[in-house]
Amino acid sequence: MNRPILRAIGLRRRFAHPSGAVDVLRGLELSVSSGELVTLFGRSGSGKSLLLALLGGFDTPDSGSVLLNGVPIAGAPPWHTCAVLPQALGLAGELTIAENVALPLRLAVDGNRPGEREIRARVGELLAGLGIDGLGDRYPPEVSFGQQQRAALARAVSGRPKVLLTDEPTAHLDPGSTPAVLDLLRRCADEGAAVLVATHDDAVHRVADRRIHLLDGVLSG
Ligand SMILES: Nc1ncnc2c1ncn2[C@@H]1O[C@H](COP(=O)(O)OP(=O)(O)O)[C@@H](O)[C@H]1O
Ligand SMILES: [Mg+2]
Repeated sequence: MNRPILRAIGLRRRFAHPSGAVDVLRGLELSVSSGELVTLFGRSGSGKSLLLALLGGFDTPDSGSVLLNGVPIAGAPPWHTCAVLPQALGLAGELTIAENVALPLRLAVDGNRPGEREIRARVGELLAGLGIDGLGDRYPPEVSFGQQQRAALARAVSGRPKVLLTDEPTAHLDPGSTPAVLDLLRRCADEGAAVLVATHDDAVHRVADRRIHLLDGVLSG
């Protein structure tokens, strides 16, 4: 087995509500290795999206820490290290789909930034693989939510991140589009990424190396 690249140690997160405080995460421990595809399940409201936000550095735990390669994160790491695909997608509406997918490549630091030809090839390959190759010149609001979801996945993986965190990536797809998304998630892991997918979809669980259950604020394997 490869080394653990992503670790969570003793994560606690509490929210104050008018009816009283809710402890959503209660000392959660997690370890995901390079090359591993892990699915995360649990009832609605159990804290799956919150956990991904904490792991991606978009939220801060009340106590505990998130380690990337053994080093505690401080805020969201760069995209080529850890890419997060939230349920809300976060595509830039003022950029075309192709420009969105190219963004992590264009933002890569000098030594890792590919040339324009290579960027075009990578974007084209990802869009074609996901069945949205005709849509590169459109803006996100001009395509369906399921197509936006695949575009956002293409953007998340274009820079070959070492860690990929994705939230319900098949939730709005027609069944015909799901296999291409599963292939891509599987391929990212097989090429060495640590991939964590929050999902209710049995089709995603079937391609996973391991499933983990979020229940009462902690994980069970
Ligand atoms: N910003 C927030 N303010 C208050 N409560 C929150 C906030 N974010 C999440 N929660 C609480 O955390 C719980 C888990 O939410 P979420 O992570 O979205 O669950 P899941 O993705 O498993 O459906 C919810 O019950 C909600 O009450
Ligand atoms: Mg959620």
